[in-house]
Amino acid sequence: MQLTFALAKGRLAEKVAEILTQCGIDCSTLTAPTRKLVLFDKDGKYRFIFVKPADVPTYIERGVADIGVVGKDTLVEENKDVYEMADLKFGACRMCVAGYPERKNAVTSNCLRVASKYVNTARNFFLTKGVNVDIIKLNGSVELGPVIGLSDVIVDIVESGKTLEANGLVILEEIFRSSARLIVNKASLKTRYDEIMPLIEKIKKATEGKA
Ligand code: PRP
Repeated sequence: MQLTFALAKGRLAEKVAEILTQCGIDCSTLTAPTRKLVLFDKDGKYRFIFVKPADVPTYIERGVADIGVVGKDTLVEENKDVYEMADLKFGACRMCVAGYPERKNAVTSNCLRVASKYVNTARNFFLTKGVNVDIIKLNGSVELGPVIGLSDVIVDIVESGKTLEANGLVILEEIFRSSARLIVNKASLKTRYDEIMPLIEKIKKATEGKA
């Protein structure tokens, strides 16, 4: 049975294909245009499944995939029972509270309306601050929240900062720094240790010094 990788469609997938190629895995199939959700490397040693980024930890926790690559932002938000094996350094971004500059003190004021895709992260952050919040779940274009008056602030990832800037918003507080993480199913690591560990070492080496 092949080792199964769960890969997030989108931002991280291409980068992962590049790294695996450096590790000697011929995964040219991953970069060719296709709508298939299950692919194999050329040698048929690895199976790749393409899932929504937020679902990667679920597939790994449930053991239907052995290894996955996912942003720390998603890992924190989903809070699944998996091993985080390595920080791959790429896909760097910051989880932040953002809003209009005049909201600078809003983080400590009471009953704040917070729009976010990361509802658990947002809830936990404000809980530790002792701030009452009304969390509004959005699935994208979160920056619209303050602009259109849906929310006072947002909790979202900031990469280049261009989306905030284009919408007149600023970072009010950084919650944590995120980057791509290699995660592994707990049982797989025990039962397939001799296959998984060397691969993880190779992946770590391939990503060293690359941000
Ligand atoms: C993410 C995030 C911000 C943006 C930040 O959205 O939610 O909106 O990227 O990037 P920047 O700091 O480089 O501008 P994404 O592109 O994933 O789309 P979404 O709005 O559909 O979530």
